[in-house]
Parts: sequence; C-alpha cells; structure tokens
Amino acid sequence: MHQLRLLGSLVLLALLLLVSRLSEASIYNILGFSSKVELPPHASLTIAHCRQLNMQAGPPDDFWSRSASDRFEPETKPILIQDGKIWTGGKNGTEIIYGDVLLEKGLIKSISRFSVESLQAYGSDIVVIDAKGSWITPGIVDVHSHLGDASSPALSGAEDDNSGKGTIQPWLRSLDGLNTHDESYRLSIAGGVTTSLVLPGSGNAIGGQAFVIKLRETKERSPSSMLLEPPYHINSSLPDPNLPPRWRHMKHACGENPSDEYKDTRMDTIWEFRQAYNKATQIKEQQDEYCAQALSGNWEGLGEFPDDLQWEALVDVVRGRVKVNTHCYEAVDLDGLVRLSNEFKFPIAAFHHASEAYLVPDLLKKAYGQTPAVALFATNGRYKREAYRASEFAPRILAKHGITVVMKSDHPVLNSRYLLYEAQQAYFYGLPENLAIASVTSNSAVVIGMDHRIGYIKEGYDADLVIWDSHPLALGATPSQVFIDGIPQLDSPYVVHKPNNFQHTPKVPNFDKQADEAVEYEGLPPLTPTKARHDTTIFLNVKAVFKRTTGPVRQIFSAQEEAELGVVVTRNGSIVCSGERVSCYTPAFFGADAQVVDLEGGSISPGLVSFGSPLGLQHIDLEPSTQDGYVFDPLSSKGIPEIVGGDYAVVHAVDGLEYGSRDALLAFRAGVTTGITAPSHKGFFVGLGTSFSLGATHRLEPGAVLTETTAVHVSVRHFGMPSVSTQIAVLRRLLLGPQEGAAGYWFNKVKEGEIPLVVEAHSADIIATLAILKSEVEVETRKTMKLTITGGAEAHLLAKELAEAHIGVILSPSRPFPYVWEDRRILPGPPLSRDSAIVTLVENGVVVGIGCEEIWSSRNLPFDVAWAAIEAEGRLSREQAFAIGSTNIEKLLGSKVDSDKTDLVATRGGDLLDGSRVAAVISPMRQGVFVFS
Ligand SMILES: *[C@@H]1O[C@H](CO)[C@@H](O)[C@H](O)[C@H]1NC(C)=O
Ligand SMILES: *[C@@H]1O[C@H](CO)[C@@H](O)[C@H](O)[C@H]1NC(C)=O
Ligand SMILES: *[C@@H]1O[C@H](CO)[C@@H](O)[C@H](O)[C@H]1NC(C)=O
Repeated sequence: MHQLRLLGSLVLLALLLLVSRLSEASIYNILGFSSKVELPPHASLTIAHCRQLNMQAGPPDDFWSRSASDRFEPETKPILIQDGKIWTGGKNGTEIIYGDVLLEKGLIKSISRFSVESLQAYGSDIVVIDAKGSWITPGIVDVHSHLGDASSPALSGAEDDNSGKGTIQPWLRSLDGLNTHDESYRLSIAGGVTTSLVLPGSGNAIGGQAFVIKLRETKERSPSSMLLEPPYHINSSLPDPNLPPRWRHMKHACGENPSDEYKDTRMDTIWEFRQAYNKATQIKEQQDEYCAQALSGNWEGLGEFPDDLQWEALVDVVRGRVKVNTHCYEAVDLDGLVRLSNEFKFPIAAFHHASEAYLVPDLLKKAYGQTPAVALFATNGRYKREAYRASEFAPRILAKHGITVVMKSDHPVLNSRYLLYEAQQAYFYGLPENLAIASVTSNSAVVIGMDHRIGYIKEGYDADLVIWDSHPLALGATPSQVFIDGIPQLDSPYVVHKPNNFQHTPKVPNFDKQADEAVEYEGLPPLTPTKARHDTTIFLNVKAVFKRTTGPVRQIFSAQEEAELGVVVTRNGSIVCSGERVSCYTPAFFGADAQVVDLEGGSISPGLVSFGSPLGLQHIDLEPSTQDGYVFDPLSSKGIPEIVGGDYAVVHAVDGLEYGSRDALLAFRAGVTTGITAPSHKGFFVGLGTSFSLGATHRLEPGAVLTETTAVHVSVRHFGMPSVSTQIAVLRRLLLGPQEGAAGYWFNKVKEGEIPLVVEAHSADIIATLAILKSEVEVETRKTMKLTITGGAEAHLLAKELAEAHIGVILSPSRPFPYVWEDRRILPGPPLSRDSAIVTLVENGVVVGIGCEEIWSSRNLPFDVAWAAIEAEGRLSREQAFAIGSTNIEKLLGSKVDSDKTDLVATRGGDLLDGSRVAAVISPMRQGVFVFS
C-alpha cells in the first residue's frame, strides 16, 4: 500500500534527529532482542509510527508552558484591558472576575489588577483599553459552520460544502474548499465569533473531514494559515513521533439529507456506514497486528505497513482520535448512530440538530465511550419531518439530564454573527445562565477538542475575547471589541450606549410547565388557543396600554408607580374600559361571569403582524404534501396553463390558507397574532395577498380571514432567466399596456391607487427602476400609486429617494445578511456602522416594517422588533417600534382592519418587547379573549 507515501518526506526529516541518536543497536537493546535479524530500512520509522498509533489526541504535556502562541503575529503590541467584568468559563461557568486582562504574544498573559508599576515596565509599547466595567467573555466558538465553503454572497460556481460523488467520503476535507473572501468572516467577527468548526455539508453519510479555523485575516491570506492546530495529516506529515496527534474532525449525517441526495433509504445509509466502518476496522486490525510484530522484532515477511490514504481518516476515527460530528435528528437516526458507535467502538463528539435528542437522553448515554454533546438551534425547527418535534425547551431538558448542550449556527443557515442570540434564546426558555454562556464558548471548545487553548479566559490561553456592550445574554448584546490572537478585530467600532439594566442578568419567564409538556407530548404539545368562557375579561395590575389608532400606535395608559397600576376590561374581545382601578374595576363591569387575569405589572399592546414567509400556506417547509404549493410562473417557458386563465391568471393566497400550523400557533402565543401572506412562488408571478388570524382553526370561523385581498404581489429578482429587464418590461406592460384578463383587472386597481403593489426586490438598482416605473405610472394617471418593496437589503442606499417617492419598505430579514449578490450591499449596523438599515430608512421618512423569512421565525418577531429598537439607541420610540412590527406592515401590505378591531396582546410582568410572556390575546374580530396558562 502506501507506507512511505503516507508517512511522507517530512517524517523522514523529522526523524533524522531521532534516528541519528537511536542506532540500530540501541533499538535492539530497547526491544530486548538477543539475536540479530535483518532489519528493513524503514524499521525505526515504522516503530515510531506504530508507537504513535495508540497515543490519544490532544495537546502535549508541556503545552501550557508556551510563552507565545503559534499564531502570534510578531508586530502585535501587548494590550491591557482594564476594569472588565470577566466571565472566565471557570467553575462550571459561574466564575466572574472583576479585573484587568493582559494580552501578550497572542496569549492571555494574566488576569488580575495590574499595577501602575507593572504597566510602566511596558513603556509606550502597551495599548491600554478601558473596559469601564463591561462584560468580557471568551471569543464565541461555533461548532457547526459552513463559513468559507458555502460562501456569501452565494455564487453557483462556488458551492463547496457538499460533494455529489458518493455517500461515504471520509477522505474529503472542508479545508480544500475554504474561500478566504467570504463576506461572513467580517460579519461573524462583528458578532463576537472568533473560532468555527467548518464542517462539510450533510448531503453525504460521511461528508468528510472538518477543520477548525480562526476567523481573522492572516498575513499569509491563505486558508491553511487560518487553521487552528491543523492535524499533521493534512499533508501526511508527522513532526515529532513522541508528540500526541492533534484532534481531527469529521462530519457524519443520517436521516433525510444523505438519503435524499442518493435516493437512499435510512436502511441504505446505515448499511453504507457499516460497510465503511467495517473496512476501516479491518485496516486498523491489520495495522495493529503488523505493529505487534514489528514492536516485537519479527520483521520477517512483514512487508509494508498496511494503510490506505482514502481510509486513513476513518481508521483514525476507530482509534478514537477524531471528533465525530453527526447531523442526526430523530430517535430512529440517533439510535442508528449509537448502535454504530458501539458496533465499531468509536466515540461521537456531538449530535447536531438532534431535534429529538431531548426525548431520548438515556439513548444518548448508551453511545460508545462518552455521551455525545448535543448541538442545537434555539427555535429554528419544523422545517422537515425530522425537525418537526424540535422544541425550544430542548437545551434546558438535555442539560437537566447532564448532557452537554452547545448552540450552533450551521452558517449560513443561521447567520453566525448572531450565534450568541441562540444562547440568549436557550436561556430565555430555561437553560441556566452559566450553561447558556458556556454553550457558545467553553462547552463549544470542549466539543471540538480545543478547550486547552480557547473557550476560557485563563492565563496561557489564546487571547481570543470579546468586550460586550451589555450582559451577554441580554437581547442585542454587541461586541464593542473582539480580539483574536490578541489582535483587535474592529477598526472603529460603534458602541451603543445601553440602559444600566442591560448590564444585569436578564429576567426571563418561567416555562417549567411548557417544558414538561414538550416531553409529555413527545414534542407536539397542544397549542390551539381556547377562548375564555366568559364574555368579560378583567386584566388587573396593568402598567401600560398601547393601542392602534387610525394613525400610529399610541400609549393610552401608563402607570409610573406600583399603586397606580391600572385595569382593562374587555367584553367579547373589545376593550370597554381601561385606566385607573377606581374607574374600571367597578361592579358594573364584572359579575360572577368575568375571568380575571393578573398581569403583574404587565402591559397591553398591539398584536404583531408576520409577513415574508409562507406562514398560513404550509405546515412543513420541505414537505409538499403539507402545503399549498407553488404558483405557475407566467414567465417560465411553459407559462400558465389555459385552464387556469393563461398568463394573465391571478392566484388568491386566501384560497390556499391552511390554519393551525404549529408555527402559526407558536407565533400567536408569542404575540404575533396576524399573518399576511402572498402565494408561494419561485420566480416572477402575480398573486394576491391575504391577511388572517394566526390563532384561528379554519377559514369559516369568524375573524379567521381579516382582509381577503390585501395587495398585488410580484417579485423582481436576479433569476438569470428571464432577465431583470424582462421582468420590468412585463411589469410596465401590466401597468401601462392593455389591461387583459384578471391581471388587467388587478393592475388597474394598482394604477388607480386602490390597492398596493408589493414587489419583492433586494437590489438597489432594481428598487431604483421600480421607483422610476412608479412615477411613469403616476404621470399617466395623475394618481398616487402605492408601492411597497419587500426584502429591501439594499433599500437603505435609496432612503431619501424612497421617502420622496412615498415607497415603503418591509425589511426582510430585519438584520441583513449578504446571502446573494443582489443583497450584498447591506448596512450592517453596530458595531460596524452606527446606523442600521431600519433607522436609516425611518429617519429619512420611509414607512418601514420588518419581515420574517421562514415560517418558524415569526414567533421571534417580538425579539426582532425589540432588537431593532435597542440598536437604534433611543432613535425609535416604543410606539415606533410597535408600529414597525404591526401597523406599518398592515398599511404597506394593504390589510384593512379598523384600528379598533385589531388584536391586542396582554403580557405578564412587562411588555411584549422586553421578553415578557404573553398571558392573553384580546381579539375583537374573533370576539373573545384567548388566555394562556
Ligand atoms: C453546572 O451548572 C449546572 C446548571 O447551573 C448544574 O445543574 C450542574 O450541576 C453544574 N455542574 C457541576 C459539575 O457543578
Ligand atoms: C504540513 O503542514 C504543517 C501544518 O500546517 C506545516 O507546519 C508543514 O510545514 C507542512 N509540511 C509540508 C511539507 O508542507
Ligand atoms: C357576547 O357575545 C355573545 C355571543 O355572540 C352574546 O350572546 C353576548 O350578548 C355578547 N356579550 C356582550 C356583553 O356583548
């Protein structure tokens, strides 16, 4: 086989020293041979190699005596960060040290109060940063990223994360596809991410080897120079045979993804795993047998060391020297991999996604060698069958069973810039504070085998840390500086000044009952809201009431003091009294027949409105049988069939509504009570939007449909074929040409300004052309056409012009990311820019709403709105914040419910934007109150 090729020329070099010291005679002495046997020329090399086969991976014993990091960039000055509140990762994540941190030679040199004298010793060479009591944590570590391999903006010529060449490919390496120009490095660093494990995709059962990178730019500008402790195997070298090997990493996947790609069933996938592991085990056994002979001096007829470049990585897995990261969702898949690990005796570092892990903790504990960690999304779930039982309570439940929980991004599935947000959500739903911070720092470092140098703030560790503008678990926590290898990463960070309460551990609701139910109902606890039995509901201890008016959202009641807390009385879903206790809490309003809800200082505010995903048209994103489906595209080569009405056909989203999806009900419980949706489409299309209640059970229920037809929707994007200019030509003809068929009817209404035209567009160039088209129409009609842009990643570039043209924007996603070319010119917001896109548009006078991209994310709209307000640093009032999540969206999309008929949300202990739990939804259209226990 490949003995010498494998060991490589560098081994020879490295061994020269050793061999020169260790003469053949001394080898004989060591091994205690009495008689002389003919030695093959590679004997000493082979013996060294054999010895190393059984060494466990990890740092060498003298690792912590290093005085400089191997990643130290020589011109980096020492930095003293003074007066930090340092979360070290020590004591199970509960240790906090108030003090200074000295960074030198790429390492954390000391953590203590630094005296003036010791500072003077450094002369003018040292950079001093005053943290002013800010929180400092280790740099964020992402255990699941495709950064560099699935680059942004995505270009079809560079999708380097999934090979289509087979199910079993342990020989592939994510390193070989790592693009150093991915926009995400800069953005993720701005979120505090310093290290990522770059995994191959999940299209294969064994997708290949993964690599740990640090995200900063290097002098060399190469992928290799970004690697953290690259295993020697990347070039088949072995520096010193007496050192332990470095940890290697590998991706495995089971369930739907690998099955999909190769038309395999789950049965096929597991068989392919077993075949591969059988092969690797055989090679390992041959090697062990060979080495047993060699080490006892039986060289006769021994031949070459058995090895195989294709299989050597998997052989290392069975030697327990590879961190196996396994994408596996359901009990059936977790069970399959636990069996595999025991059959072939290899440990699994972590199960990723693992949406059913919290239901089978005892199964996880049966895995070979160690209980795998579980790497989760916080609330991203239900997008396919295997994710359908995902629970926001999984982190806390798993932690309670003593299983290590880490949060991951799967970047760019989730933008890893906001990985800390995943930890914040896990904390919100009940993961203890210490474990929540550890879930993206120290525990992540443990999972990838790098906890000897990253993930903690300890003397001798890599100088990777983040200074935060708030408590790290407070929503919107943003780095004011990020250090990687002691090098500051943000050139001139914009730091948002936050109220003092943001420096403390955030208060979170109690979800104990919901967490128990998640397990009791195997991930599908009942969510359908039930209407209060009584006509009258009385809300006590109300601190504030925000209501819609015909114009903006207004605060109509507010109590400053405990004693002033007010009362709100509703009848059949409409407020009949609100204000001071004395004026509303009178017997006239309550008989025996009233339900009383104590809001404990909470508030009542408008229900939020979700737009931007197919919410209401589907239950499971990747399952066609659970959804309305896609409309025909009039611009595709086939066009729209005659029987539908030909190319001028117009589809009504209202006809496809599917009520009661879990995502709709979760959104409803989170205070997002209304959905507006357009027909699902894959290209340019013409369809009519609709607005509906997210809590309703079916279309015939009163108040289930709110505005049957809201707006005319089209999409103008860079699909390649047809061109953008063709799409604009079609739009111009629909607006200004002969008005034919159903499309003609609806576009005439658009022209007359009776109904908005909503165009999904991201690029500033397309948006500018749409603005011109609007004015062409207006010149002809002398009426104001209502035009709304959705998506709008680059809309901020035209803020002034859009305001002048009265074009509104629904930003979706609300925190931008350069997914594709047409939305690459984002305004990133703090710390990279002072203004966010939202603030820029609002301050220029554009009516702005924010959208939700996928159906699972609607439930997070309250967080999105609150986050936008936090980032705006006081430049968005509470009322404006509510408006960008409710009234503005309705206005821009043509939803026409009277302002006193729209839903209100009652929250307990605080308001909807400070993370308080929803106690009830007050619905005039559905004539009742829905109370949640
Ligand atoms: C670590 O903290 C968690 C949660 O606070 C606790 O349940 C666990 O027992 C702690 N572990 C140790 C080893 O102290
Ligand atoms: C092999 O890789 C290691 C680690 O990156 C590096 O130090 C060494 O110089 C490389 N050797 C060769 C021959 O390229
Ligand atoms: C509430 O609605 C029910 C059912 O429509 C009706 O019978 C009742 O009179 C209403 N109550 C009030 C106070 O309006």
